Amino acid sequence: MNRSEYRIAPSILSADFARLGEEVRAVIAAGADLIHFDVMDNHYVPNLTVGPLVCEAIRPHCSVPIDVHLMVRPVDRIIPDFAKAGARIISFHPEASEHVDRTLGLIRELGCKAGLVFNPATPLAHLDHVMDKVDLILIMSVNPGFGGQSFIASALDKLREARARIAASGRDIWLEIDGGVKADNIERIARAGADTFVAGSAIFGERDRAAAIRNLREALKRATMPA
Ligand code: DX5
Ligand code: ZN
Repeated sequence: MNRSEYRIAPSILSADFARLGEEVRAVIAAGADLIHFDVMDNHYVPNLTVGPLVCEAIRPHCSVPIDVHLMVRPVDRIIPDFAKAGARIISFHPEASEHVDRTLGLIRELGCKAGLVFNPATPLAHLDHVMDKVDLILIMSVNPGFGGQSFIASALDKLREARARIAASGRDIWLEIDGGVKADNIERIARAGADTFVAGSAIFGERDRAAAIRNLREALKRATMPA
């Protein structure tokens, strides 16, 4: 994989919410490719975060696409609100939708890229009949709900399997990883096939956000060299 094809997506979950606009601008200035926006409902996952209002509020501060990760159930009602609030990518968990094919179609009709998210125990078989409607596959390397958890190693095999499915499809589908991504494991994750890397605590947990992103990029550079 070419280095320029790697995307870093800071998750605002670990940002200082009292200074959110500033935080978003800082990571974009430091080279973030996307802003990952975690939406939790205290129902599908045991935590509660932010909704379309906050998405709309950060939009003027975002010169890069907003990557909305919905951890809510149901999903269809809220999707148009996020499209209107400036989301460019909207991903959801298949367990949270009654009709996965319909939800993917809805996201695309609204002009956004559609993503399907896989929890650690969720099989990739959910992709079997919808590969042509998916723009992004998001592999969870933690159970969703909280930032700062440890990377679950079985996600690496899942990434390899997802990468093989993407290759077989011949389509340009992004492969994103979310959870426990750090400078010391991102090379392995890239070698397993990921091209888009969510990082929450690894970036916003560091005082110097720019240095944190630089460290991730340095490690990614090594993934483009022979092992
Ligand atoms: C977890 C969220 C992640 C989270 C990642 O449910 O989907 O995006 O912010 O945080 P870190 O990088 O700290 O594991
Ligand atoms: Zn996320």
